[in-house]
Amino acid sequence: MALLEVSKLCVNYGAIKAVKGISFYVERGEVVTLIGANGAGKSSTMKAIAGLINSTSGRIVFNNSDITNAQPHVIVKSGITLCPEGRQIFPSLTVRGNLEMGAFTVSKASLEQGIEKAYALFPVLKERSKQLAGTLSGGEQQMLAVARALMAEPKLLMLDEPSLGLAPLIVQEIFQLIKQISKLGTTILLVEQNARAALSISDRGYVLETGNIVLSDTGSNLIKDEKIIDAYLGDLN
Ligand SMILES: Nc1ncnc2c1ncn2[C@@H]1O[C@H](COP(=O)(O)OP(=O)(O)OP(=O)(O)O)[C@@H](O)[C@H]1O
Ligand SMILES: [Mg+2]
Repeated sequence: MALLEVSKLCVNYGAIKAVKGISFYVERGEVVTLIGANGAGKSSTMKAIAGLINSTSGRIVFNNSDITNAQPHVIVKSGITLCPEGRQIFPSLTVRGNLEMGAFTVSKASLEQGIEKAYALFPVLKERSKQLAGTLSGGEQQMLAVARALMAEPKLLMLDEPSLGLAPLIVQEIFQLIKQISKLGTTILLVEQNARAALSISDRGYVLETGNIVLSDTGSNLIKDEKIIDAYLGDLN
């Protein structure tokens, strides 16, 4: 069985059907990307997996346990963390304070180890450990958001639009870091508008259109698919 198995997941907001019965899986060790236009249901899917919103129907199984509509802290403890769209760091806490907030499920000893690991992966955060997070640059805030999500030692890290609003050089750096996190043994589910960069580091991808999965393939095939190029990848550059 795959690490994450999502079956026939539906998410409604009142009368709005945001996710309409999607099924997909993520194997241990994979990087998997969901791509899709604005409003396709990408964030809703991630929020439902993280327990931040309830699914209307369907089933989410993680590491052989049914976690459908479980409480968010239970899902974090089971090994899934979400680095949310828009970063949502705590601006009035220091860098270190933000990292501590991400470690609420781990022991004091693991907290210190986690902080050392985060600083090794993101040296800029070590330099700025006492700086208020709200005064970091956009790229530094994104790194902090990813580092915070790693503090709970997830088996599956979900990243919602990690490159949004960042300059091209920083975007490259973020994707290199995601690759590195994957190599260090964390399975990754990624949502991105920057489909080319995301697919280039992904084992597989799913294309979401208005709440339905319309295509799935390997990252390397999707990146060459004419329909995907027209709809999501734009000009080669
Ligand atoms: N809290 C909410 N209340 C009502 N409708 C919502 C809510 N959140 C999302 N929606 C609707 O659900 C649909 C899917 O939204 P979602 O945020 O999942 O899309 P997305 O693929 O993440 O889009 P984007 O690329 O813009 O982030 C949209 O039509 C959106 O308007
Ligand atoms: Mg979104």
